[in-house]
Amino acid sequence: MANNTNKQHETMVKWLRDLHATERGAADTLDRLAERLGRHPQLVTRLQQHWREKEEQIRAIEANLKRLNADPSRVKDTATRFKSLMDTFATVVASDEPVKDCLTLYALKHYEIASYIALATAARELSDAEITSMCERHLEQDRAMTEFLGTQLAEVTLDNLRP
Ligand SMILES: [Fe+2]
Repeated sequence: MANNTNKQHETMVKWLRDLHATERGAADTLDRLAERLGRHPQLVTRLQQHWREKEEQIRAIEANLKRLNADPSRVKDTATRFKSLMDTFATVVASDEPVKDCLTLYALKHYEIASYIALATAARELSDAEITSMCERHLEQDRAMTEFLGTQLAEVTLDNLRP
């Protein structure tokens, strides 16, 4: 990104930080959900697999932030801010039932997907091959997880209705 302006550089750094925080927030939701879905072992296995993918995604975002000379401590600030946003969302939308947790996660995954689409578009425009390929890789993983979660929603809902 040597030829890009400061503003473009700042925008990319800001978006990477936002994504980092979003991934972190969603990782916490995944964690909570996996604990509550003991009656859906197939879904739990998939959630745990995605949790590992997500840790990789977070590391890849951090590596790109470092490459762009971004101050890592700012990542923590933004993450804290976003985490409380996620917590508020989770509290408002979700009660203690797994169905609501699934809905929260489904919504968060779509937010992640939309964020990667936007970041990939910007990275392509600014000829940043590393961020572009990172976004493409994460998009593929997040879309697969979201699609699977969508197929499980009905079963989790019906199970919740059972006495
Ligand atoms: Fe993700």
